Amino acid sequence: ITKDYSTVSEWGAKYIKKRINDFKPSADRLFILGLPTGSTPIGTYKKLVEFVQAKELSFKYVVTFNMDEYVGLPKDHPESYHSFMWKHLFKHIDIDPNNVHILNGSAPDLIAECEQYEQAIRDHGGIDLFVGGIGPDGHIAFNEPGSSLASRTRIKSLAQDTIAANARFFNNDINQVPKCALTVGVGTVMDAREVMVLISGASKAIALHMAIEAGMNHMWTVSALQNHPKFLCICDEDATLEL
Ligand code: GLP
Repeated sequence: ITKDYSTVSEWGAKYIKKRINDFKPSADRLFILGLPTGSTPIGTYKKLVEFVQAKELSFKYVVTFNMDEYVGLPKDHPESYHSFMWKHLFKHIDIDPNNVHILNGSAPDLIAECEQYEQAIRDHGGIDLFVGGIGPDGHIAFNEPGSSLASRTRIKSLAQDTIAANARFFNNDINQVPKCALTVGVGTVMDAREVMVLISGASKAIALHMAIEAGMNHMWTVSALQNHPKFLCICDEDATLEL
């Protein structure tokens, strides 16, 4: 538990920096980092960019896999998660674009796209650190309430609450928000060697309570991480109001 959004962001970024810097890459094994979108990680990404600019951190030997992407938005749509990631992180750092992986929500065969994504994660040796955020309903990535806790990367229809929460990015018009997304599964996140979730604000307080104090429950999919051997939850004081 840390004070506020800015200390959550700083903590998260320093932790990612440490993990990358401590890792010894080899020709066939780079650091594999899972990444989220949403407003929560923006501060963490800003700090990571500062670290790269100060030459305290390099993404030269880092491969990334993003958690999710809307179905049906072209990659260059301003609200696609592709655009988000390039705007907030990738275009400011020294990552090789070939090492960036983001699900393609406009792929002609979405099922094949999801299977290939799982295969690509396996081919890279699995994810070393999966960074995540949560929705107010306790979803991780786009694993909406009711998702199987063993789920893998797949197409998911979004819960009405998520569509409403994300309307703020689409001119506050619910009709413009995509109704489906591609998302890594809860099982995909659980396979990572380490998971760090960033949680900020009172709107996440009930979700944080359900995540760590109630039992594991597929209606609050982040709660599956109680069973993860290395799960770190960074939150601010506002998010702890229901603990
Ligand atoms: C979306 C993303 C999630 C993210 C959530 C929370 O639903 N698919 O990965 O955790 O938003 O977003 P925010 O950080 O803006 O509250």
